[in-house]
Amino acid sequence: MEEQRILAIESSCDETAAAVVKNGREVLSNIISSQIALHTVYGGVVPEIASRKHVENIDGVIMEALQQANVTLQEIDAVAVTYGPGLVGALLVGLAEAKALSFALQKPLIGVHHIEGHICANYIENKEFEPPFISLVVSGGHTHIVYVPEYGKYEILGKTRDDAVGEAYDKVARAIGMGYPGGPKIDAAAKNGKETIAFPRIFLEENSYDFSFSGLKSAVLNYINKANMMGEKIIPEDVAASFQAAVIDVLLEKTMRAVEQKGVYKIALAGGVASNSALRQRMKEECQKRGYTLNIPSPIFCTDNAAMIGCAAYYEYQKGIRDSLDLNANPSLKLGER
Ligand code: KG4
Ligand code: ZN
Repeated sequence: MEEQRILAIESSCDETAAAVVKNGREVLSNIISSQIALHTVYGGVVPEIASRKHVENIDGVIMEALQQANVTLQEIDAVAVTYGPGLVGALLVGLAEAKALSFALQKPLIGVHHIEGHICANYIENKEFEPPFISLVVSGGHTHIVYVPEYGKYEILGKTRDDAVGEAYDKVARAIGMGYPGGPKIDAAAKNGKETIAFPRIFLEENSYDFSFSGLKSAVLNYINKANMMGEKIIPEDVAASFQAAVIDVLLEKTMRAVEQKGVYKIALAGGVASNSALRQRMKEECQKRGYTLNIPSPIFCTDNAAMIGCAAYYEYQKGIRDSLDLNANPSLKLGER
């Protein structure tokens, strides 16, 4: 088989990332320049700052990705880029760069859906992993249960009706004074906490695969406000552990039900929250108990990165997908649509 090297660019949120991926699954380089420190001051991502920083960083990040992969621009076979969903100004920086490279090098351009990238992160380390499978996608902006019957095909079984899981983590963390980004902080705090507070598990209608996390978030905020009013001491570690247990109970139940309904006993975790240690552990235990196959990317491939975009682009490329230079950023792009 002819070798295929894809230069991939990801700039949908607050990470400027570039990677070179060979034949879809071999990551030659994976450079991530995080802006977290800049946004922490504001308690969340400030879109204007994100765009400006992407502009400043993107050339350097791409050069580093090429150098580390030991590949020249001329040796690249295609340029891949996230074109949605995400912050429109942030997406446009990566897209403009990818289009310029594609035009200058006369190499194909492949636009990739950000969530497709997250799902495809599962192909990187486990070379045997392939569809069909059920993917639980949990990130800062999305919470989806997706059935993947074959490469590049996505059937959304359910999604959040309000907050994404990562968003709930970030908001709860802020309320208990842990700062941004809250996910990793709650993860760490929960390890030293006990599940002492009974927060609600919101399952919605009996057969629904949809999620709702805003009620849980409100319950946590109410608990904190009430304790403050009564002058009671709050144990942040216990709040973190109790909140997290409520989230994971719901994620687990719905994912397992989707597996049974589809009769596809293989699960792939995806997205930033998939790096959560408790979610990983409880998924592992549950899958072991039931005899299901489980794949979870290493944390570095769970949070935003460009290697996952290069991987997804490879399978789009194999299907003959090529984008033209009028490809536009689409902040609300739907999974499975072009
Ligand atoms: O996938 P991602 O990097 O960006 C989006 O596409 O949104 O996900 C970022 C989200 C943030 O909400 C962050 O708090 C959460 O993932 N996150 C975690 C952990 N690491 C990152 N949530 C829980 N536990 C973690 N260890
Ligand atoms: Zn993401």
